[in-house]
Amino acid sequence: MCGIIGYVGFRPATPILIDGLHRLEYRGYDSAGVATLDKGDLHFRKKAGRVSHLQSLLVDSPIPGTIGISHTRWATHGPANDTNAHPHIAGEGNKQIALVHNGVIENYSTLKRQLESEGVVFKSQTDTEVIAQLIAYHLNDNLIETVRKVLSLVKGTYGLAVVSSQHPDQIVAARLGSPLVVGIGQDENYLASDPSALMGYTQRVVYLQDHQIALLKKSDWHVYDEQQIRLTPKIQEIVDKRTSTELGNFPHYMLKEIYEQPEAIENAMRGRLNDSDASAHFGGLNLDTQQIRSADRIILTACGTSYHAGLVGEYLFEEFARMPVEVEYASEFRYRNPPIDRQTIIIAITQSGETADTLAALRESKRKGHPTLAICNVVGSSIAREADGGVYLHAGQEIGVASTKAFTSQVTVLTMLALYFGRMRHLSSIQGAKMIDELRSVPDLIRETLTCHDEVKRISEKYHAFRNLLYMGRQYLYPVALEGALKLKEISYIHAEGYPAAEMKHGPIALVDPETPSVFLVPDGPVFDKVMSNLEEVKARKGPVIAITSAGNPRVIQYVKERADDVIIIPETPEYLQPIISVIPLQLFAYHIALLRGCDVDKPRNLAKSVTVE
Ligand code: G6P
Repeated sequence: MCGIIGYVGFRPATPILIDGLHRLEYRGYDSAGVATLDKGDLHFRKKAGRVSHLQSLLVDSPIPGTIGISHTRWATHGPANDTNAHPHIAGEGNKQIALVHNGVIENYSTLKRQLESEGVVFKSQTDTEVIAQLIAYHLNDNLIETVRKVLSLVKGTYGLAVVSSQHPDQIVAARLGSPLVVGIGQDENYLASDPSALMGYTQRVVYLQDHQIALLKKSDWHVYDEQQIRLTPKIQEIVDKRTSTELGNFPHYMLKEIYEQPEAIENAMRGRLNDSDASAHFGGLNLDTQQIRSADRIILTACGTSYHAGLVGEYLFEEFARMPVEVEYASEFRYRNPPIDRQTIIIAITQSGETADTLAALRESKRKGHPTLAICNVVGSSIAREADGGVYLHAGQEIGVASTKAFTSQVTVLTMLALYFGRMRHLSSIQGAKMIDELRSVPDLIRETLTCHDEVKRISEKYHAFRNLLYMGRQYLYPVALEGALKLKEISYIHAEGYPAAEMKHGPIALVDPETPSVFLVPDGPVFDKVMSNLEEVKARKGPVIAITSAGNPRVIQYVKERADDVIIIPETPEYLQPIISVIPLQLFAYHIALLRGCDVDKPRNLAKSVTVE
């Protein structure tokens, strides 16, 4: 959420900054800005809208300098306009400073009032400007000292970068709760809120930890801790993933990522299915067999799509490991104080590894002494580093804001974990071996499922103008109903709700009419007849119905076709794997409806890929 790029070196700064901002645009895209220093003068340009708008402004009105900072914003305080865009400029003459910030300053109004009483005039409605004004107010010969002093006054979270006309050769950066990396080059150094923005410039990075401050110069960089002690941080090599961030022949990242799911799942399973033990195997759990065996409860915590993966996980762990599971929204869990049994493992599920609420929930769990695991996609992310152990998805970078391949990879990892925990308990080797075979068939089943694309596109044309949709599923497919509705909401702005199908008659059925279509997940299986009864109840009230059912039993297909207005057929799959397969047509459905409504599929309004504020 919000992106930061900084550069200090020998090349013109703005092309590098703009290139980095384009790569970070998925984190926030309502306004953008840059500030550079040249011969002791501070220059800046800010613009509401996409990075391309800022880029055009810079073509018409370029700014010089080989040192600069930049930002792409996701608004928290104050609307998206030129003034509220970062960098925020404060101070005067040769004591001007520019600041970019990710995070939220909670005590900004108190600090703002204090500064205003001293005559400081604020230009924006942001919380961020208070840090800029405080730095300008306290600025002395030592920029890093000034920043440290100001940060001791603020309450909240930040990843920030500052330049000052009084210190024309340096960038000062600081982190508390919002990620930042220093990129190390030859006679040039970089700063980024996500290392992927540095691909092609450098592969050598230092991840800043909370409370650390970095000083970047052209040929030099240093990191300090809270006590002002200079550290010798570990330099890490990042893998150049540029090919995975190219669109290729796909018009949108979301569609590309939907199509990447077979490979993503192969990657999630690679080296983790163990035939001789009829179990799964994970390299990074960092929990010994005793700890896993003695755990008698699991709490899964996450946000958004990852939370829906967690809900599938609940069914998986209960069925295969016979363990009680709770699934908690991280934003609630972090502030609740539930009594938790000692032998409870907390698992945070997160694509980005940076979601503020999930990170806070993980920290709170660690503080209480529980073993913590992360199911995470981004290597080296905050949650991946802070959890006791975990499992990477290896899904490749996910850029589309609406999560697709991360969801199916998370469910795959949860299935393998349930197998692993199950094999330590009640699951026989025969059952384990069967699960392994079935899991191995999933990538091909997804390939087969993707052949429904044309049919889903055709159906989308029929339904794109409706304003409300309901999604119904039961058991393993209830979380998929939630996820299907979320996908549609996120990118098409159509109101959609997911429900356990039988719950419909306790309220949502009041919404059913010819203008409110329902999507029913009715593959063949133990609850088929029951879900079909719910479907009939909707039809009886003239609600249009799209049904997703499975191939395999022609009589089932015929039965569904006679009742639903439109039918999408997916391959036959064991019940516990149906979430991975049945979500595919729902992803495609949301994608096509959004396109038909003229929405920006990869950058939906008001959303961001990685939510690093509370
Ligand atoms: C944001 C994204 C969602 C994502 C959620 C949780 O809201 O737009 O797609 O599911 O954050 O993100 P995480 O990275 O923790 O999975």
